[in-house]
Amino acid sequence: MENPFKYDSVEALREERAVRIVDQRLFPCHEEFLLLYNEEDVYDAIRKLKVRGAPAIGVCAAYGIWASVANLSSGSGLASEFDRIAGRIASSRPTAVNLGWAVERMNRCFRSALDLYGEDREMVCDALFEEADAIKREDIAMCEAIGRNGLSLFTRKGMGVLTHCNAGHFAVSRYGTALAPVYMAQSAGLEPRLFSDETRPLHQGSRITMKELMMAGVDATLLCDSMVASLMTKGEIDMVFVGCDRIAANGDTANKIGTCGVALIAHHFGIPVYVLGPSSTIDRCTPTGKDIVIEQRDPSEVTELYFSERMAPSGAKVYNPAFDVTPAEFITGIITEKGIFHYPYNFLEND
Ligand code: MRU
Repeated sequence: MENPFKYDSVEALREERAVRIVDQRLFPCHEEFLLLYNEEDVYDAIRKLKVRGAPAIGVCAAYGIWASVANLSSGSGLASEFDRIAGRIASSRPTAVNLGWAVERMNRCFRSALDLYGEDREMVCDALFEEADAIKREDIAMCEAIGRNGLSLFTRKGMGVLTHCNAGHFAVSRYGTALAPVYMAQSAGLEPRLFSDETRPLHQGSRITMKELMMAGVDATLLCDSMVASLMTKGEIDMVFVGCDRIAANGDTANKIGTCGVALIAHHFGIPVYVLGPSSTIDRCTPTGKDIVIEQRDPSEVTELYFSERMAPSGAKVYNPAFDVTPAEFITGIITEKGIFHYPYNFLEND
């Protein structure tokens, strides 16, 4: 697939023993890169959303474990230090399944490298780097496969697609999940028309999705979250594409706060809603959406962060969950690298 982007959101600098990320908090006005060398840098970057989006968090965590181990001072016990590093990085955010999944994969790689190479740090670090790099390469291939599967839904020129939050290039290793089919449709001359919710309170839609759609030359229109129903009454939207942070075994899906509302409105208007993500986002140990832990975030994100003056009285009580859960019955299809699955979902038995 043609790559319209100059850089990836997460890259490893092997010689420097560092992870390079673009600070997504500063989008769309600034492009500043940060180097992460140890578990505290990585924890802080994930926690504060300098790097965000479920797959990008997983890739950053994997490279972050490699860099943290590579930068350990000599003399420290490798196994206990690894556990401390991995535990710290895994605790940075609770909802996206990719974080714990990537840390566990690095853990398995570390245990087998330790068996093979003992305390030979260089060899262990090389094995960790290769594993983290494989996670990124696989994620790129996964995005391409999701893109191909989603592309089959573009049955004519100029289709209108609504998206929420940012499940595009900057949220993953490359291209995106929800936005990969859009970029493919664009390359195929199908001229998709994208509509992006601004996605209060952190504005991933206006700051990040709009930036990357415009970089890729896609016809993109921004709307406030409160305008979705109005837009749908105009007949502008043919389908909704969103990403996912964790899919329960019954198909209930956690994604950016506001996704559930969009899905309910789309259901009312008979507009199909597709959740796009790698199959590793399906958490077979979580039976339903009720079992998903939803991250609660700082009230200042709602009252102050993106305003020049505060937008609520000082001391106002704030409700600020980062994600919500869309019940499976409001999701028309879940698109992974393996294909398109339709409701009802039973990921305990099927893949
Ligand atoms: O809090 P964020 O910005 O990390 O939330 C991101 C989302 O909810 C995305 O839609 C999801 O992670 C899918 S990213 C391909």
